Order: sequence, then structure tokens, then C-alpha cells
Amino acid sequence: MNEIFIYSSKEHININGVSQWQSPSNIALVKYWGKKSNQIPMNPSLSMTLSNCFSKIKVSYQFEILKNDNIQFSLLFEGKREVSFESKLSIFLDRIKVYCPYLLNLKLIIESSNSFPHSSGIASSASFYSALSLSIMDIEKHLNSEIDDEFFLKKASFLSRLGSGSACRSIMGPVSLWGSSELFIDSNDFHAIKYPNKINSVFKGINDTVLIVDKGKKNVSSSLGHELMKDHSFSNDRIKQAHNNLFRIKNALENGNYDMFIEIVEMEALTLHAMMMTSNPYFILMKPNTLQIINEVWRYRIENHSKICFTLDAGANIHLLYPQNEYDKIQNFISSNLVNYCENDEFINDKIGVGPNKL
Ligand code: PMV
Repeated sequence: MNEIFIYSSKEHININGVSQWQSPSNIALVKYWGKKSNQIPMNPSLSMTLSNCFSKIKVSYQFEILKNDNIQFSLLFEGKREVSFESKLSIFLDRIKVYCPYLLNLKLIIESSNSFPHSSGIASSASFYSALSLSIMDIEKHLNSEIDDEFFLKKASFLSRLGSGSACRSIMGPVSLWGSSELFIDSNDFHAIKYPNKINSVFKGINDTVLIVDKGKKNVSSSLGHELMKDHSFSNDRIKQAHNNLFRIKNALENGNYDMFIEIVEMEALTLHAMMMTSNPYFILMKPNTLQIINEVWRYRIENHSKICFTLDAGANIHLLYPQNEYDKIQNFISSNLVNYCENDEFINDKIGVGPNKL
């Protein structure tokens, strides 16, 4: 499977140019947690692509005779050098050079910025690596104009995965599936696919408000979290649960069963945190205000017969998901109540989106 993504021409073509993309972050409904080697997930995951939380990237590339076996790059994040991003980027470029050997004869100048604050706790690696991989595919297309759109996106997703697993899902909106599942013929561990089944119109235009409970840097990296799943006592059961939740959410999405959707989304969020609490070493990623908000959301849902629910990433911030027809009421609930539990009263309104844009 991976061989099809190896660019094989040995010709050194003198090219230069600029590619610019905007690519969104995504929020998982069925969580990816735990990986085998080579960024292969332990279980399939399903996510929703966001609209307003995205990275913009500009890649300028210039032909340069190969100096050594490393891809030459410079990186500016919001106009400044960020040394901490550079080592992760080097690892990514090292992983992909076998698939994109033409990069060894180019000097890359990568400039990126995010639409959301860096300290907001929203994972920027998904939007960054998906945007970068799309620009790399532009370079490949410059060398081989015969690449069709399908291959372009598949390989972009494949490359993104090697930067950050969840990034591969940002390429295929609005709902994206990554990881092999017997329920979906084209699903696989190497790249994400656009969710192929019917989605009931009740889920159309679903909103995601991110409540910023803690702006601090995460104290546990997702890489460590994935690693801890390897020897986790509950990992086999978790993998079974993820497959079962994928089966159940597929039915919920098809039949418009919002209550079932809510149950699965919240269960997945709490399971992700439960796995962290029960690994060795163990961590608590929620803050007291995370729990306060969860309780407020549950109370509000019952009192108002609402379809609001929450999900979490590997951190303390909360993603509130709710249908468009409750937008005004829930914005009221946020500004009169939930905002009190947010750091500096901060929250970000977002909604489900279609995926990346070429700029
Ligand atoms: O892409 P990574 O390696 O940062 O992993 C992210 C994992 C979660 O965000 C916690 C869950 C998911 O499926 O996105």
C-alpha cells in the first residue's frame, strides 16, 4: 500500500515556486488513542473538520543541489523562529523523504500562522501538518502534472499522518474516518477517507464552541499518551470499545439518532481521559473547571431538553457540540454561565466545515 506513495522519478528538475494552503483543525468523535509503530493507529477514529480554527501556510521552494541526506528548511511561525517546532518538523521531513525524494533537492522556506491563539490548547499540529502536506503535494504536482485530485488528497493525508496522526483527518472534511474498520471497505490505517455513508440532516451545520479552561501548555504530550497505551492493562478493551462505538455512531449518524450520538461522543471523551488516569504513569488532564462545565452541561441538557454535548481532547478544554437550531440559546448559556469557568472568559465559536482551501 505504501509503495504507491513513493515518487520514483530520479530526475533532478530545476523547479521553484510558492504554494499556499489553509487547512483546518479537527475534533474527534471517536478518539484515536494509542499507536503502533510508524504512526499506525490502534483503532479507527472519526472526526469532524472545523471551519474557523485553521493554519495558513506558505511554502517557497527553490532548487538546490543536494548537500546531504537532510531536507533543507527554514520555519517561521507567525513571523518568528520557533525552535521547539523545528525538531518535530525535522522528524517529519525525515520520515517523508523516502516518499518525496524531490524535497532533497529543494530549499524550503515554510511560513505559517494560526487563526486561533497558540495558547488556546487547540491542537495546531493537525492543521499545520495537513496544510504543509498539501503544499508538498503542490510541489509534487509541479513535477508531475498527471497526478489526479484523488491521489493528491490521499497522499497529502498519508504524509500528514507522519507528522501528527490526527492531521491526516483534516484533509478530508466535513466528516473523516481514519483507521481500518470492517464496516467501511476503503478505510485503512495509512490515510484518512471522507466518511462515505449517509449523514442525517439533523447533524448539518453542527456547532463546536471551544471553552478555554486552561491556556497553559499541555503537561502530557499526545505522543507520550499514545505510547502509554502499549502496555496499558485496558488497551484491548479500549480497542474493542472504539470499534463498537464506530458501529453505533455510524447508525446514529444515518438514522439521525441524536441521543445515541451524544452518548457515544461523551463516552469517547471520558474514556480518553480514563485511559490517561489509569496508565502507568497516570495523569489527570482535566481541571476542576472542566468538571464544573460538564456538570453544568448535563444540568442544562435535562432542564432544556437540549441536544448539547461535550467532547475533550487530551487537555482541560471543552468542545461543546450543539445543533444550529439551538445556537442562540446556547450562546446565551455560555455567556451567562459557562464563561465563568473559562480562563480570561475565553471561548472560540466554530462549526463543522468542509476541509482545506488552496490560497
Ligand atoms: O495527532 P496526535 O498524535 O496529536 O493525537 C491526537 C489524539 C487526540 O486528539 C487526543 C484524539 C484524536 O483522535 O484527535
